[in-house]
Amino acid sequence: MKEKLKNVFFRIWYWYVSTVDKNAEVIFMNYGYSKDNHKIKLDESDEKNRYSAQLYNLVASGANIKGKDILEIGCGRGGGLSYINRYLSPSSITGIDLNKKAIQFCKKHYSNEKTKFLQANAQNLNFQDNTFDVVINIESSHRYSKMDKFLYEVYRVLRPGGFFLFADFRHEVELEKLNTQLKNSSFMLLNDEKITTNVLEALKLSTSERENLIHKIVPKFLHGLGKKFAATEGTPTYNKFLTGEFEYLFYVLMK
Ligand SMILES: C[S@@+](CC[C@H](N)C(=O)[O-])C[C@H]1O[C@@H](n2cnc3c(N)ncnc32)[C@H](O)[C@@H]1O
Repeated sequence: MKEKLKNVFFRIWYWYVSTVDKNAEVIFMNYGYSKDNHKIKLDESDEKNRYSAQLYNLVASGANIKGKDILEIGCGRGGGLSYINRYLSPSSITGIDLNKKAIQFCKKHYSNEKTKFLQANAQNLNFQDNTFDVVINIESSHRYSKMDKFLYEVYRVLRPGGFFLFADFRHEVELEKLNTQLKNSSFMLLNDEKITTNVLEALKLSTSERENLIHKIVPKFLHGLGKKFAATEGTPTYNKFLTGEFEYLFYVLMK
């Protein structure tokens, strides 16, 4: 029940951000990644999203993206998909998300002949079998009620030899369940990595920028809530990463 309520809350928040962000300032909705020797080259205009783009860069490094057909599940407001498109040269990229407003936003800002968007549920993909070379999923799966169904669907739409690049966080008590779900899927696990300290570092480094943005786009009475969702330094989510109650994982799987 608590999880269902949380899901509703998150959906309302994503909808709300889409409604108030009139100047398209929120294009990423992940916690980011920071590592001393992982400072990627970015255009000046992308610097404000450095840590979120670095998380995408890390996840995308799990496969060769160049010339491939990519599906991003839970693309949110498309910042990651746009980063992949502009820096990693895929052949095509399709973004899906449950949130209708997020998909409208993506269509308006990023649609072109090799980039498509669809409103869809991760647990019920409306694509033919063997359609994509790479599926990317970042910080979205912790909201799925049927993780097994999601894994089945990702496997189905990937071509043989295709990659599933997956990053998300879990409460420490849910980790074993996730690893069992991955083990029971038909995927071959090529790599798994705990990146909690790098995510925490990114949150710390981006706290003032995140707070400034919250102050800019949401009314004062919602500042506390905004910071909670953005997991800025000192918030419960930030502290859960700090104490190890939440772990952030990055997996590379192959069909
Ligand atoms: C925290 S945001 C991350 C967005 C994006 N990956 C990023 O890093 O900026 C999570 C996204 O997952 C989407 N989502 C949640 N449940 C979903 C589902 N069942 N199917 C598709 N998308 C879903 C939400 O609407 C939201 O846009």
